[in-house]
Amino acid sequence: MFDRLDARSDRHARLVYSHGGIVLKKRPLKTLDRVLSKAGVGSRVEAAQWVRAGRVRVNGRLVRDTDHWVDMERDEVRLDGRPLQVRERVYLLLYKPAGYLTTYRDPQGRPTVYDLLEDVGTFVSPVGRLDLDTSGLLLMTNDSQFAEWITNPDSHVPKTYLVKASGLLTEGQLQQLRDGVMLSDGPTRPAEIVRVRDSARYTHLEITLTEGRNRQVRRMVEALGLEVLKLVRVQIGSLRIGTLPIGQWRLLTAAEKQSLGRASRSPARTPGKSAEG
Ligand code: URA
Repeated sequence: MFDRLDARSDRHARLVYSHGGIVLKKRPLKTLDRVLSKAGVGSRVEAAQWVRAGRVRVNGRLVRDTDHWVDMERDEVRLDGRPLQVRERVYLLLYKPAGYLTTYRDPQGRPTVYDLLEDVGTFVSPVGRLDLDTSGLLLMTNDSQFAEWITNPDSHVPKTYLVKASGLLTEGQLQQLRDGVMLSDGPTRPAEIVRVRDSARYTHLEITLTEGRNRQVRRMVEALGLEVLKLVRVQIGSLRIGTLPIGQWRLLTAAEKQSLGRASRSPARTPGKSAEG
């Protein structure tokens, strides 16, 4: 059990190990030009120019070195004598419709999720991706550490999908999905698979994964010789899409945000089998 922040490296200052688990902590150290650009006052290039021009003070001392390390929790940075404003963190949930790209701009001019986010008032980035043809719950935020926690497979945050497969899957095939199937980038982790219902020609499943590889659900079903005809993400951690209308967004509540921060769980178990390995 230890709490440690590696003060020398911005990259490694992210994870803190405590009581045997990984806990999300702020990255406390950033270079001065990054601190200024992250505060939204200008680009990193502009910020570097201001630093060199002597317009920036750290704890009252003039600093002209753009690589000067700043401890975000302790140091006070002023530009032209004015303290930097701490940027408000925004977390929102969008019900992405199929047919929208999870990207900022598309060279072919297709609709993107940003077309649905007119009134947010600040720039937010998608937390992971949903394919063009996938609909459902997409988190967006300007908190990059939160996004990393949700998407990092080591966090084991479960994501649940409703799937319509192009044929009838046997119990044996469902068990294969549970145990893990071999994809081009390696075997999948154990997953929770629930048969929701069968129609005459299709199987409807609920699949819960704790990884988030590119097109993973589609590739898992393709590994069994079928196709995914419809894919909807209905849950991330404890957060469900609920009654939010398709194409709409809403802010997360503080409680939802907090519970997502703790949303990891141990790998899925299948009856009579060990979880992994
Ligand atoms: N798995 C997929 O195949 N596609 C998605 O959009 C999300 C998960």
